Amino acid sequence: MTRCSAIVRHHITVPRDEGYLSLVEDLLANAEVRGMERYIQHGTTTCLHHCISVSYLSYLFCRRYGLDTAAAARGGLLHDLFLYDWHTYRRAPGERLHGFEHPRKALANASRLFSLTEKERDIILHHMFPLTLTPPRSKEGCVVTMFDKYCSLMETLRQPVLVLSTALSEG
Ligand SMILES: [Fe+2]
Ligand SMILES: [Fe+2]
Repeated sequence: MTRCSAIVRHHITVPRDEGYLSLVEDLLANAEVRGMERYIQHGTTTCLHHCISVSYLSYLFCRRYGLDTAAAARGGLLHDLFLYDWHTYRRAPGERLHGFEHPRKALANASRLFSLTEKERDIILHHMFPLTLTPPRSKEGCVVTMFDKYCSLMETLRQPVLVLSTALSEG
């Protein structure tokens, strides 16, 4: 088994990694979280699969370096739970660009659906740093922010992202 292999869980293709899945099972079982599959995030990648990639790479990184894997996996999976197509979204009067607004929307949606830790809330709210000026307060927040940038770039270039999971799983 390689870390890149996949299985279907709750009708979603997810990494074949029971340690990871045990941390996010309740999130994946939620219909609104799975609703992110309806929207493209970058290139041909849906918002749901973008969030799974960010979540899983952050989980592997935190596992390798002894950080909080649950916060990284859960905060990463919920970080873009804004539930609209940002490419065609019409802003309400006074609303700022999507890049600035969506962390607060994702946090509001995630807080409505789940009981979040303070660290998970901070990961979601500050994942767009440095576009939004306040950095994440935790190391795990910095990890999610880093892998969000990496995945966004690779998805925009239509390149595979989970190839990194092999390197993060070694050693
Ligand atoms: Fe985002
Ligand atoms: Fe993202």
